[in-house]
Amino acid sequence: MKRTLGQLALVAAAVLVPNLASAQHAYVGVKACGMCHKSEAKGQQLAIWEKSKHAGAFTTLTGPKAAEIAKAKGIAGPASEAKECLACHTITGDVGAADPKQGVQCESCHGAGADYKAMGVMKVRDNAVKGGLVVFADKAAIEAMCKKCHNEKSPTAKPFNFDERWAPIAHKKPAA
Ligand code: HEC
Ligand code: HEC
Ligand code: HEC
Ligand code: HEC
Repeated sequence: MKRTLGQLALVAAAVLVPNLASAQHAYVGVKACGMCHKSEAKGQQLAIWEKSKHAGAFTTLTGPKAAEIAKAKGIAGPASEAKECLACHTITGDVGAADPKQGVQCESCHGAGADYKAMGVMKVRDNAVKGGLVVFADKAAIEAMCKKCHNEKSPTAKPFNFDERWAPIAHKKPAA
């Protein structure tokens, strides 16, 4: 079958899109997201996160309980420098300036933001996704994302009931 130019362009796009999706985007940190996601009308995502345990996930690694766990596991240095611990307690990406002290932050769940945080991009969901914004098809997909860290590899793992764990960190935009 003869292909039209339009069809050829579609084929080319199909080949290119996976590359875009897997491209490494740089991290920008919580402040950059918070500047647009903090008002009451928007849903106060920044304040909700600041009060959550996720914000203190790095600090936890500097405490006595973490030191005890690390020692029992035979980790030589401090837990706050061990990649076995940092993996779930911070963003350890080497792209851009992710500040590990921010612990589990917006971009841990939503994807590195450098290429989607601009207003013009954020406003058009498809473009934001192309820029690295991670979106979820349904509740099961969200739960699977949580379980990348909330699983048996955590030395202090507790059973993960999604509804119970989502409630304290929910940060929905209020209906207009
Ligand atoms: C310049 C302002 C701005 C910045 C900076 C910004 N956003 Fe947004 N964001 C928006 C706007 C506008 C929307 C569209 C929905 C709305 O109006 O609330 C949006 C939507 C979203 C959504 C909902 C997407 C969907 O449709 O499911 C998420 C999640 C999100 N932003 C996360 C982030 C994260 C994480 C960062 C930091 C990396 C960030 N945003 C930075 C303005 C911004
Ligand atoms: C990048 C890893 C990571 C992801 C992804 C993640 N968490 Fe967490 N979460 C943690 C860590 C680490 C802690 C412990 C923080 C501390 O106490 O220092 C934690 C703590 C919590 C807590 C507070 C303690 C508790 O167990 O009640 C809640 C609630 C929670 N997470 C809910 C969620 C939910 C819901 C999701 C998915 C929407 C999620 N988390 C995704 C790493 C993660
Ligand atoms: C532990 C993971 C996690 C963290 C941390 C997190 N989010 Fe989310 N966020 C989610 C999930 C899951 C949703 C729901 C997506 C859905 O329903 O499809 C969501 C929804 C949103 C929405 C859409 C709200 C709506 O109702 O339209 C915005 C905006 C948003 N997050 C911004 C942020 C910002 C800004 C931060 C940091 C200050 C942040 N999030 C931190 C997991 C997280
Ligand atoms: C697979 C992801 C993961 C890894 C790896 C991980 N953690 Fe955690 N950590 C979590 C989560 C999730 C929580 C929240 C509690 C829970 O549900 O497990 C947590 C909570 C904690 C807490 C607070 C527990 C409490 O009850 O006060 C400490 C302390 C801790 N982790 C230390 C460590 C240390 C030290 C290491 C490295 C040896 C480590 N973690 C590795 C995911 C992880």
